[in-house]
Parts: sequence; structure tokens; C-alpha cells
Amino acid sequence: MTDINALRDWRYSVDMWGIARAVFDREGESQNSFSRRALEELGAIVQAVERGARDRRLVGLIIISGKEKGFIVGADVREFEQLTSEREVIESVSLVNGYLDRIERMPIPVVCCIHGFCLGGGLELALACHWRIATRDDATQLGFPEVRLGLFPGFNGTARSIRQAGALTAMPMMLKGSMIRAGAARGMGLVDELVASPLSLPWAARKAIERRLKSKPVAFWKDLARQWPARELLAKKLRYETAKKGREDHYPAPFKLIELFETHAANLEGMKAAETRAFAPLMMGPTSRNLRRVFKLMEMLKGQAPKEVPFKPLRVQVIGAGVMGADIAGWCVASGMEVSLQDVNADQIAKGIAKQKQLFQRKFRTKAERDAAAARLLADPSGANIGRADVVIEAIVERLESKQNLFKAIEGTLKPGAVLATNTSSIMIEEIAEPLANRGRLIGIHFFNPVAQMPLVEVIRGKDTREEEVQKGCHFVTAIDKLPLVARSSPGFVVNRVLGPYMMAALQRVDRGEMKEKIDEAARTFGMPMGPVELADTVGLDVCASVGNILKIAPPGVSKLDQMVAAGKLGKKSGEGFYVWKDGKPQKAQPQTAWDKGELERLGRELVAPLIHEAERVREEKIVESGDLVDAGVIFGTGFAPFRGGPLHFAANEEKSNVEVLRRPAVA
Ligand code: NAI
Repeated sequence: MTDINALRDWRYSVDMWGIARAVFDREGESQNSFSRRALEELGAIVQAVERGARDRRLVGLIIISGKEKGFIVGADVREFEQLTSEREVIESVSLVNGYLDRIERMPIPVVCCIHGFCLGGGLELALACHWRIATRDDATQLGFPEVRLGLFPGFNGTARSIRQAGALTAMPMMLKGSMIRAGAARGMGLVDELVASPLSLPWAARKAIERRLKSKPVAFWKDLARQWPARELLAKKLRYETAKKGREDHYPAPFKLIELFETHAANLEGMKAAETRAFAPLMMGPTSRNLRRVFKLMEMLKGQAPKEVPFKPLRVQVIGAGVMGADIAGWCVASGMEVSLQDVNADQIAKGIAKQKQLFQRKFRTKAERDAAAARLLADPSGANIGRADVVIEAIVERLESKQNLFKAIEGTLKPGAVLATNTSSIMIEEIAEPLANRGRLIGIHFFNPVAQMPLVEVIRGKDTREEEVQKGCHFVTAIDKLPLVARSSPGFVVNRVLGPYMMAALQRVDRGEMKEKIDEAARTFGMPMGPVELADTVGLDVCASVGNILKIAPPGVSKLDQMVAAGKLGKKSGEGFYVWKDGKPQKAQPQTAWDKGELERLGRELVAPLIHEAERVREEKIVESGDLVDAGVIFGTGFAPFRGGPLHFAANEEKSNVEVLRRPAVA
């Protein structure tokens, strides 16, 4: 057993009034997560407090974080892979559940102080305490994000959250993996008391111990939701809502959680044991493994940005206020920066700025915040503010000469050290940089459309680009809360390059007379967020045709795609492409007889084969540094079925026979 005097992740002390304080401050980490050692030390603390309570030396226990910014973000995902069998999962989870049960049964009050993120296992620890106090700060957010890792709460958080908040609110919270602020958590019953700032937490906790405050479970009438027949009705509704977001064979965890609730929620103690039994197979299953991989890939992308750079991007100049420029400007403003939006056409600037109102409405809760954001977005038709910008992003028309002329004209006016970037989607960075006196300065910062929804941004290194500029570019991308992927300048970079052959091959199938609706359904059956034909219409058929030309993958002869572009049928934006679009939705024909599931699955795999093949070539040509980064880029840049862990990972895991199918050439 861990020695209470030799803790490394916790600090344990007892004050003169007999109040014990357990401060979680994980060694060597910027935030608290539950590692095996941190949990063992929690066990030692539980034992010491039990002894102190028995001897009447202790009157209460306060659990609090030693980190300035957060309480506990959950279990340490990096350690999950150490568990190699369901038995091991059950053993280690049961050990922790034993500690939490003992906290709950402690004869003296146990008070939990929450400031910052209180997620997953952190919230489960909090729910085992007798009284929960949280700061009324925007940074304080509670939630169970486990479903995003293909799991559900495993430290008895399912039963305890239902006990405290009632199934009607606790179940959707767990199923969505959403985070809630302290005020809402108080309304739900997950938090008992709110204080203004972290400084008030210890004093409020002391008071709660003195008064022996004890949280009450949810009101009787709200608790009825877990009794028959309400439970069955609720389970049915939840199953219906969950099925709209993902399929059970792709993402089993939320469905298993509903089953757990439906079968066991009448008896919350019984639900605890059933939770552990249902949790273990999910933890060992492929979906959770792959989603954990996706989580690590995301961390890897973030890790591409240096932590310490003597560069703080505060002011941005966006040149070109069209589809991309305006939204890039809005996004940077929403991330706290001051942005000047420049365009040769003043109307474009006005339209671009007006459009950002919707984003600010979504991003900010108060009018004051929205007004402040609007004030940070400046119209700058003449480019007067370029010299003050830390980052200059060009998003003008996709024409080499126009871009070269622009950069030549502004080079002399830039602030020393400012990042100079182009949002080009197809022109080589070194070509654009050619007329510059300082060619090593230019990088690509390639956003995807729609900017607000796409998490990935490619940071492109041209032949002459200096490493320092790439690093600053990555730093900027993480500062606006996007994921940077460093790629070498080459046609299509990573995302468009892998999407191109995938979409072209699908459109050729349509040319050959295959039903577009079936193609799209098959891709969705594989796990793509949208089928390739619908995607082509969404991106714009003119854009698809131009990508096809750049990548030299357009089929010979006149395709349906060419005909449609010539006829001005450009997809969603013109109201018609392969589909007719109404109210932003493609009008799809229903099949006369339902498609065979096996056939859809086979077709889905065939459809993604060109994408996988191209991803392999991207790895071989070292367009990015590793295969993992290719997978990361494709998942976050195209939405490639996350539960499959990325195209290269998927291909490597397939049976040999399937791999042969997958390696078929992209375009006939
Ligand atoms: P757009 O045609 O919607 O907007 C271009 C804007 O640039 C227009 O408002 C035009 O008035 C302005 N402009 C032209 N020359 C200018 C100059 N010398 N100085 C200032 N403003 C000037 O174009 P869009 O679609 O926004 O594309 C911009 C860039 O972003 C292109 O390089 C494109 O390849 C790239 N891109 C486009 C994506 C898309 O989905 N549309 C996705 C990712 C990158």
C-alpha cells in the first residue's frame, strides 16, 4: 500500500481543526488525470481518512485540485492500452469503485471543490463525495466525454449521476458526451453550491463540513423516470435519438448504456455492478481502441506546434473577403484576435463582416461578448493595417499571377517577424513565393470549407520555406483552436489529394449508370459522414473539376461532371448538381426494394479503396512526416470514419483478402 507520507500526485495534510485536505496535483503534468499511481494514492488517502475518522482525529475531508486551471480531466487515456483483457479491466475498475464507495460511506463529511474541467472520472469522484462546490466561472465545466472514446462512465458514474440528476437529464448528458457549466450543473443537481472564485472554495468547503451538509438525491417525481413503465419509454426515445447520430455496429457504447439503464436502473446498486460488466468489453473492443487512437492522433497534431515560441499572434490581416477569407477572419476574431479584412471590393468586405454575426451568435453567450467580437473585426479596404499584423493570410482568387503581384506589393510593408501565408488550395508555395525578396518567409495556411466546422488546417512548407515560419504557422493554428497538419507543398497537399480520387471514382460510377443514392448510402454504411456524390455537390462541382485537373485524375472524354459544370449546375450552391437541392438538402430517390446490407458494406469498401490507396502514396512520398499523421489529417480533414482509426490503420488491420479489394487502382 502506498505510504501516505510519500505521495507524488497528491498532497495530504490535516489542519488544527481536524480537517483533512487532499490536493490533487499530478507530478510532471499540466493537468490532473487519473493514472494508476494517482488512483493508488487516492486509495491511501481514503485509508488514512477512514482511520482518522474512526479515531475521531478528523472531522471532514476536502478534495481539491492543486492545478491553477482545472480539477480533473478524467482517466489518463495514455494508460488505457496497458489493460490487455476484460478481466484486467474489471479488476482495475473494481478497485477504484471500491475507493469511491468508501468515500461515499465515510462517516465524516467529504466535500469536493471544483474549478475548471471536471470530466469523466473526475466527475465520478465528485459524485461520490457528500457535497460538491463549484466556481461560477466559465472555465468550470462538468461532463462525461466517455462516449467520444467509445465508452461510458466506468467508475459508477452512470448510477450516481442518475441518482443525483435523474435519468431524464443524466442519460442525455452521458449519451452526448456534452459539457455543462457550473450553473446548469447546479440546476441539475450535480453540484450543490456555487462560489464566485477559486479563492472562495476552501472557506466554503470548511463551512460545509462544519454544517455537515449532505447533498440530496433528485426529487421523487424526477426519479420516476427510472421506474417501469417510464424507463422503457425513455429508453425507447433515447435509442431513437441516438440512432440518428450513429449506427450501433459503428458506435456501440451509447446503445449499451441505454441497455444498461433499461435493464438495471430500477436498482442503482445493481446498476453499479452491471456497469462494470458492460464496460469491460467496450474497453477491449475495436471501436474504443480506434477512437482512443483518434484521440492520440489529435494530441499528436496539437504537438506539431511548439509550446514555447517568441511569437504571440494577436493581430491578423486577411486579404480577400470571399467565401474563405471572410470566414477565416470571423473565426480568428471568435478566437480572441483582432482582424482586419481587406478586399479590392468594398461590398465583399461589408458582406463578409455581416455574415460573421451568425458565428458570434453561436460562439458567445452575452451581448457584450458579441459586441466586443464585432468591434475586433475591422474593414480595411486599403490595407492600412498590414504593417501592424502578426499574421497575414492571403485568400484572394486562385490565380498565380494575382497572388504573386499581391505578395510583391505588400512584402515591404510587413512587420518584421510577421507570418506571411497563403490559403491557396492548389498552387505550389514556392511558385507563389518566387518574386519575393524573402522567399523563405511564405507558408501555406490552408483552411477547409466551412471554416467553422472543419477542425484541420494544413500548414504547408514550400521548397524554400524556413522551418521557423512553419513553426510559427502551427503556433498560430493552435492559437485559433484548430489542428495543424504540416505538409510538404505538392499537388492537393494531403486532404484534397486523397479526396480527389475517391470522389472522381464515385462520379465515374454514376457516369456508368450506378445509382447515386446507393453509392452515398454505401459510403455512409462504411462510416463516412456523407457520401461522395453528395460531397461533390456540397463542395461545388466546379471546384471538383478543378481539383481533378490539378491532380490529373479527370477521366478522358466528357464526363457528366464536365457537362454539369458547363451547364452551370454546380451543386448545392446553384441549387442543382447531381442532386436537386431544396432548403439545403439533396432530394434523394428511394430504392424500390431495400438495399442488401452486405452489398452496401462491400460497395462501401470499394468506394474508399482509392482514398486508402492515395493515402498510402502520401505516406510513401513523405508529404507528411509519418503514417499516423496521414491518418490524422484524413480523419480530421475529411471526417473519414473515426471508429476505423484512419485509412492506413484500417487497411493494415484488414484481412488479406479485403486488402486486395482495397488496393484496386483508383480511377479506371
Ligand atoms: P472568392 O472568389 O470567394 O473570393 C476571393 C476574393 O478576393 C474576392 O472577394 C475578390 O474581390 C478578392 N480579391 C481578388 N483579388 C484581390 C486583391 N488583389 N486584393 C484583395 N482582394 C482581392 O474565393 P474563395 O473561394 O474564398 O477562395 C480564396 C482562396 O482560398 C483561393 O486561393 C482558394 O483556392 C482558397 N480556398 C478555397 C476554398 C473553397 O472552398 N472556396 C477552400 C480552401 C481554400
